[in-house]
Amino acid sequence: MSNADFELTGKTALITGAGRGIGLATARRLAAAGAHVIIADYIAENGEAAAAEIESMGRKSLFIEVDVRSSASVDSMAARALAAFPQIDILVCNAGIAQAVAAEDCSDEDWLNMLAVNLNGVFWCCRAIGKHMLERGSGAIVNTASMSGMISNTPQPQAHYNAAKAGVIMLTKSLAGEWAGRGVRVNCVSPGYIGTDMTAEGMANADWYPTWLAMTPQGRVGAPEDVAAAIYYLASPAAKYTTGSNLVVDGGYTAW
Ligand SMILES: NC(=O)c1ccc[n+]([C@@H]2O[C@H](COP(=O)([O-])OP(=O)(O)OC[C@H]3O[C@@H](n4cnc5c(N)ncnc54)[C@H](O)[C@@H]3O)[C@@H](O)[C@H]2O)c1
Repeated sequence: MSNADFELTGKTALITGAGRGIGLATARRLAAAGAHVIIADYIAENGEAAAAEIESMGRKSLFIEVDVRSSASVDSMAARALAAFPQIDILVCNAGIAQAVAAEDCSDEDWLNMLAVNLNGVFWCCRAIGKHMLERGSGAIVNTASMSGMISNTPQPQAHYNAAKAGVIMLTKSLAGEWAGRGVRVNCVSPGYIGTDMTAEGMANADWYPTWLAMTPQGRVGAPEDVAAAIYYLASPAAKYTTGSNLVVDGGYTAW
């Protein structure tokens, strides 16, 4: 193994939810390693700004507006990406939402919307871009799961989020097994609490935030860059013997 195994020059990555937070940090990280990066998000303003920033780093970029809840929208994202770039080498399925709601008050709409973004969305993207990777016999997919797929968060109630993320971990393993013999690796990362827009409400909550810190051995939340580094490793040739894994980046939360 050499530093060349961490080199992404000439490769193209597509990242969903890359307009801000963990997705944006990942776009910057992969671009710094040499990759061209396609930014996919449903907030156009953030996505356009992210694509401009990647171009300012000397890489090619493109913003594609997508709603990952819709397989038609995802298929059209894949078609647009492959019309603009000859191939997609790396797919990061990272778009996600969070919501705190007690299970007994969780409406059909809340439940279905959570599953639509956080689980269906990952599958639609893996299926659309995975097909292209299988045809070429090469590709690396990294899904953003969560420690919430392994532990039940507290004090905020979020059964639908936790269930969706557990689904992402098992979807990752299932696809890894199906596609390992055809050159496509599929892994996921499971972040603990990371300081982004998603956690801003919780970090401002006088009950939740101290509980999160007390339950985290490192006693702090992580940065988006901490997760981006793990995604980078799994996406890079350095991880060529790694598939079906779930890399936990949680300051030790799940160790206690
Ligand atoms: N922040 C954390 O503590 C934490 C912990 C574990 C896992 N995660 C996961 O990491 C991922 C990124 O989260 P983040 O913290 O950066 O949050 P964020 O809210 O800052 O970013 C999420 C991004 O996804 C996009 N998005 C949401 N719904 C979409 C849809 N239907 N179609 C397309 N794009 C959509 C948003 O526009 C946004 O740019 C999510 O999957 C989240 O569940 C976050």
